[in-house]
Amino acid sequence: MMVLGIESSCDETGVAICTTEGQILGQALHSQIAMHKDYGGVVPELASRDHIRRLIPLLEQVQQQSGVNLNQLHAVAVTTGPGLPGALMAGSAFAYSLAMGLGLPVLPIHHLEGHLLSPLLSQNPPSFPFTALLVSGGHSQLMGVHGLGNYQVLGETLDDAAGEAFDKTAKMIGLPYPGGPALAKLAEQGDAQRFKLPRPMLHSGDFMFSFSGLKTAVLTTAMKLAGVTQPAEHMAIAEQDKADLAASFQAAIVDVLVKKSMAACKQMGHKRLVVAGGVGANRMLRKQLHESAHKTGVEVFFPELNLCTDNGAMIAFAGAMHLRANPTLLNQKNYAMQTRPRCALVPPNEATPLV
Ligand code: KG4
Ligand code: ZN
Repeated sequence: MMVLGIESSCDETGVAICTTEGQILGQALHSQIAMHKDYGGVVPELASRDHIRRLIPLLEQVQQQSGVNLNQLHAVAVTTGPGLPGALMAGSAFAYSLAMGLGLPVLPIHHLEGHLLSPLLSQNPPSFPFTALLVSGGHSQLMGVHGLGNYQVLGETLDDAAGEAFDKTAKMIGLPYPGGPALAKLAEQGDAQRFKLPRPMLHSGDFMFSFSGLKTAVLTTAMKLAGVTQPAEHMAIAEQDKADLAASFQAAIVDVLVKKSMAACKQMGHKRLVVAGGVGANRMLRKQLHESAHKTGVEVFFPELNLCTDNGAMIAFAGAMHLRANPTLLNQKNYAMQTRPRCALVPPNEATPLV
């Protein structure tokens, strides 16, 4: 069976077709980075309008690439949340009306489930169960993944998400949006030992994260380097100082993510760790996780680099996996569109203590 996937939760429009055997037949993506760059971040209204403009051309591109006609599809999967309200509505209105017109079922997909399952699309996919580190612009979570749809939250962030911390810190030291990749690039030229930055909640005894203290420590250091007493939008910091600060920040955040991930694998008794979400593209995180995992006999799985950040393939794949597990979904023709800008993948529960 073939599933069309639509992603439009933030600043990427993604369309893809995936089979229930897990094969991506075609995928197309449009990133809005260039459009939002001048504003230093995502402008929600511009994002929604752009999704509307891009969806049909992207769908045509995917049809051409895959050679699949719309009347050959079996279902339409779409991200219904979490994300920007208008952006979600754009993709969902498109998906629901297309499905209704074609008489196909709609498979509403949670954006984080898309990320969580994306490493299964790689050449060497992990098998269930595994521990997952989900680190994106909006979320930081450690999860126990026992099977499709069987997810357990072990811990999450109390404040900023890992990607958000990268983005805000980058902005603080004058790097352009999107900050995460820019900061990571600059960090390659810096000395990660130069500034001793805090590793928040490293020894908290649970799997919770907090990155706002680290962000404040970077701000204080940046102000010292710029010789100012008040935070300012454009602080004059020497290029090498900036690179050293970026490297020290990256080392601190990676340290926390790696140690907590390893502790979670140990507690769960899992020998497989899956990393998903945009921050999963970070090279230092990949390197350190591989090193630590190797020492403890854990195997680490990452999505392909192009599937780390938002894309349509992960949504089509999640839909296809649900359809494969439950073919009766084919009979479900409910076109009462519902988007959920804020929704948890798993209902909130207590963090699982380390011991
Ligand atoms: O998963 P994603 O595309 O969108 C959300 O669902 O949020 O993640 C985007 C986040 C952004 O915060 C971006 O700065 C971060 O992932 N990111 C990175 C890197 N590439 C993307 N952070 C650190 N290092 C990178 N190389
Ligand atoms: Zn995402």
